[in-house]
Amino acid sequence: MNSEKIKELDKSKTAHTYSRYDVVLASGKGARCLSPEGKGFIDFTAGIGVNSLGFCDEGWIKVVTEQLNKIQHASNLFYTEPQARLAEALASRTGLSKTVFVNSGAEANETAIKAARKYGTENKGTGANRIITLKNSFHGRTMAALTATGQEKYHRYFTPFIEGFDYCAVNDTEELKKLADENSCAIMIEVIQGEGGVVDLNQDFAEAAEKICRDKDMLLIIDEVQTGIGRTGKLFAYQHYGLKPDIVTFAKGLGGGLPIGGAIMGEKCCNVLQPGDHGSTFGGNPVVCAGALEVLKRLDEDFLREVAAKGEYVKERLLQTSGVNGISGKGLMLGISLEKGKASHIVEGGIREGLLLLTAGEKVRLLPPLNIEWEELGEGLNIMKSLIKSITC
Ligand SMILES: Cc1ncc(COP(=O)(O)O)c(C=O)c1O
Repeated sequence: MNSEKIKELDKSKTAHTYSRYDVVLASGKGARCLSPEGKGFIDFTAGIGVNSLGFCDEGWIKVVTEQLNKIQHASNLFYTEPQARLAEALASRTGLSKTVFVNSGAEANETAIKAARKYGTENKGTGANRIITLKNSFHGRTMAALTATGQEKYHRYFTPFIEGFDYCAVNDTEELKKLADENSCAIMIEVIQGEGGVVDLNQDFAEAAEKICRDKDMLLIIDEVQTGIGRTGKLFAYQHYGLKPDIVTFAKGLGGGLPIGGAIMGEKCCNVLQPGDHGSTFGGNPVVCAGALEVLKRLDEDFLREVAAKGEYVKERLLQTSGVNGISGKGLMLGISLEKGKASHIVEGGIREGLLLLTAGEKVRLLPPLNIEWEELGEGLNIMKSLIKSITC
């Protein structure tokens, strides 16, 4: 089918829950992809931070197809080796203890919310089930994750919401201290808010959140759905802050393109959820876990150092460009501040010029594959720089 036919069919038969860009993607390799007609793009989106190793990475395809040829699904009533090995790898690379596997970021956060409420109820008493999240956060679209999300624009229409969430302003330590009381069981934060516009938390605020959790017997939940799996130049972004979370949620980048999500839990709460408390038919599927193990294996210290270096290179190149007012984020999760209203024009211009970009609030957001070649990064940045010059000056 050609692009026009695919778009027409899609528009008539899929519900309009996305305002899609005017592009059909048919194939890809690394950080490059093609439309059905062969128009080429450099990809600075990685499927919104999912394709950590780019399109169709050979090593990843090999392990996924090998696993497909062994056993494709077993249900969580049986043990499978890839899930057990992945849980072990996540524990050894975080110092946390045990993982619950699900299929997406929203479900990962639902898991953390349930664990925190049970932890609070068992350890602090009935009623100790309130969770503090941040204004401007994003935690997913299911009802509890949506309620946890501190942005009004996502809350229209979907009342009644789940009770028990309190919202604190970003980096406002005094408010955080006031909100945390005997009824609070957890603080849930993204250390760099992604959908909220690539907003970095202050070191002091992040440390205060950790201290409050320790002092008041609450759980520190870090949502690493977007920031995790090497995206910021460390395996998880909380590691930049030297934090010791009780629960880390992940999704997106771990599967390398297949759906996975989960919550890695520390000593304090890893045995809170017991049989019957939580589950997922597909969670921890062996094919997905085999692919995830390959992603983790590739993200060694040298690889992560290179992600950080690529991020520095992007900052250096773009900060020299007139029209760029600042860059937030770390590694290959970056938000480029431009004059208000210009970000979407840059994204549209990118599509014309063969560069896929994202927005986050008023910023242009870059989430390229972590293994993007330096030369591709440079080529994409050249396109961006000339777009910024022509659109903002
Ligand atoms: C920080 C964060 N949490 C949760 C989610 C929800 O993930 P999913 O779309 O896989 O449910 C997202 C998605 O963008 C996210 O950025």
